[in-house]
Amino acid sequence: MTTPDEHTPDRPNGASFPTTRLRRLRQHPAVRALVQETRLHPGNFVLPLFVRTGQGVRTAIGSMPGHFQLSVDQIPAEVEQARALGLGGVLLFGIPDHKDALGSDSTSDQGIVQQAIRAAKQAARDVLIITDVCFCEYTDHGHCGVVSDRTGRVDVDNDPTLELIATQAVSHARAGADMVAPSGMMDGMVGAIRQRLDATGYSHLPILSYAAKYASAFYGPFREAAESAPQFGDRRGYQMDPAASPEQALREVALDLAEGADLVMVKPALAYLDILRAVRERFPGVPLAAYNVSGEYSMVKAAAQLGWIDERATALESLLAMRRAGASILLTYWAKDAARWLS
Ligand code: PBG
Repeated sequence: MTTPDEHTPDRPNGASFPTTRLRRLRQHPAVRALVQETRLHPGNFVLPLFVRTGQGVRTAIGSMPGHFQLSVDQIPAEVEQARALGLGGVLLFGIPDHKDALGSDSTSDQGIVQQAIRAAKQAARDVLIITDVCFCEYTDHGHCGVVSDRTGRVDVDNDPTLELIATQAVSHARAGADMVAPSGMMDGMVGAIRQRLDATGYSHLPILSYAAKYASAFYGPFREAAESAPQFGDRRGYQMDPAASPEQALREVALDLAEGADLVMVKPALAYLDILRAVRERFPGVPLAAYNVSGEYSMVKAAAQLGWIDERATALESLLAMRRAGASILLTYWAKDAARWLS
């Protein structure tokens, strides 16, 4: 016999069936809509763009259907579209012709990404331009900074890299970037950028830190898109180990905030929803971004092309999951499509 106050796991609050019928909240579409808590909005989407040298270039990225390497002259139209769709912003990645050991194009005011920033700003001043601050697309070895064997292991040398990261960030600021997003996972990168920006008249410029960025196989298609695959070794000496304690991600976020990060990111997104949730809970007031990375996009695209999955429904459900886990900002290759699907 069941007594009214008996508490069983499938009958929360002791309510007994059929008094509690959760399907009452699901039957009427209007009731379903009424009780929704997680909603997607184009204003939270950021569109990544790849910029390369040349004129009239629109090279399809094979593993990322719908995305292209674009020359600078193509950027105004993209930024206009971002504005028309009400996107939260665009994130620029540069692919220079000339790569060298120090990634010198990335710190030059005439560099590819600096040209793209100026073109974007001329086209639409009010569209938020975020820049990826890193070296892997600019170095001939494909690593995210200055490589040395000082420690007995060939790896990115942290402190000499900080100097270059700060120089790159200021160069982006001078070109007109609205926000800089360091993605190299160097210790002290946020502090180095903050100090340099403050010292050069850009104390108003926010930093979106790739705070908890994992060494992930899900970046595979991006490395084709940005031509940034490491020529030897891997990135495990600087990006986080997926098997590390989630507390390590929280330490990374805490350090970046202490160094002056204004917004923080978890990357990738789908396989790291637990990390998003943990960051959201530990740092409730901090704007949190999720990077829905290239591999997450390509998998769905490929399955959709084979007729195995519904791209639109899968993409929107994934983005919703990232929001539900705690991210307010979604960096996604679906930014334009999702904005259209939602309208
Ligand atoms: C580094 C950078 C990478 C991505 C964003 N910034 C590549 C990497 O760390 O290897 C990956 C983004 C994606 O996969 O969509 N500049």
